[in-house]
Amino acid sequence: MLQASGIAKSYGGNDVLRGLSLDVERGELISIIGPSGCGKSTFLRCLNFLEHPDAGSVRIEDVTLACQGSWSRANEAQAHRLRAHVGMVFQSFNLFPHRTVLENVMMAPIQVKRVAREQAQAIACELLEKVGLGAVKERYPDRLSGGQKQRAAIARALAMKPSVMLYDEPTSALDPELSEEVLSVMRALDEDGMTQIVVTHDMRFARAASDRVLYVEGGEVVESGDPDLMFADPKDARTRRFLRTLL
Ligand SMILES: Nc1ncnc2c1ncn2[C@@H]1O[C@H](COP(=O)(O)OP(=O)(O)OP(=O)(O)O)[C@@H](O)[C@H]1O
Ligand SMILES: [Mg+2]
Repeated sequence: MLQASGIAKSYGGNDVLRGLSLDVERGELISIIGPSGCGKSTFLRCLNFLEHPDAGSVRIEDVTLACQGSWSRANEAQAHRLRAHVGMVFQSFNLFPHRTVLENVMMAPIQVKRVAREQAQAIACELLEKVGLGAVKERYPDRLSGGQKQRAAIARALAMKPSVMLYDEPTSALDPELSEEVLSVMRALDEDGMTQIVVTHDMRFARAASDRVLYVEGGEVVESGDPDLMFADPKDARTRRFLRTLL
């Protein structure tokens, strides 16, 4: 359902991404791991054109956008269509502080999709129950724990009915216990058949929850495959070195 190919990006002569490709099947949970600065966040941001790749193409569902040279108005319109299929969750939650949790989740469907207020509220309440926040939906974000904020951010992304969820280190700002609350929501979504791509430093989660792991280094996919196989017996010397320093 998602196909990225040959994604390249450089910043002022620094080749951050050297042609990354990724094919994702519906319902897969994919973890992207790799050393700091290897381009994981840049790649994730290129998948929904928050960052414009220098070259490469992305297809999500029936929307394809190929990049070559300058960024045009037509590209932007196509990127807009493509983003409608994508939910994104960041390390820092990015909730609106002056809105309750419920309002945070209702906002985009009302403003962007013109969903009727009553219906948006019903959807939001259902999603907040699902992520375990039914009891705190009238609170403002500053009265939530980090784990609760992140679950609210996930509910907010889900309210737009994306076909794929992208997460950039969703738990790295959280204590282990609060991380677990967030990871279990992601596991539940996986069981529901959601397609998810997660950039993570949490190797335990990458190994236990993913269908597939991508190891990225030097702007390339060095190795990808079944998490148990890769963690137990990495094929590439670079993957071995990375995993050895971590474990
Ligand atoms: N807007 C930018 N302008 C210039 N350089 C950038 C920009 N964004 C990222 N970079 C550089 O691109 C490289 C990859 O950055 P990126 O944030 O994608 O790495 P990462 O793998 O997500 O790292 P981390 O694990 O620390 O989050 C880094 O060298 C970074 O300094
Ligand atoms: Mg990053």
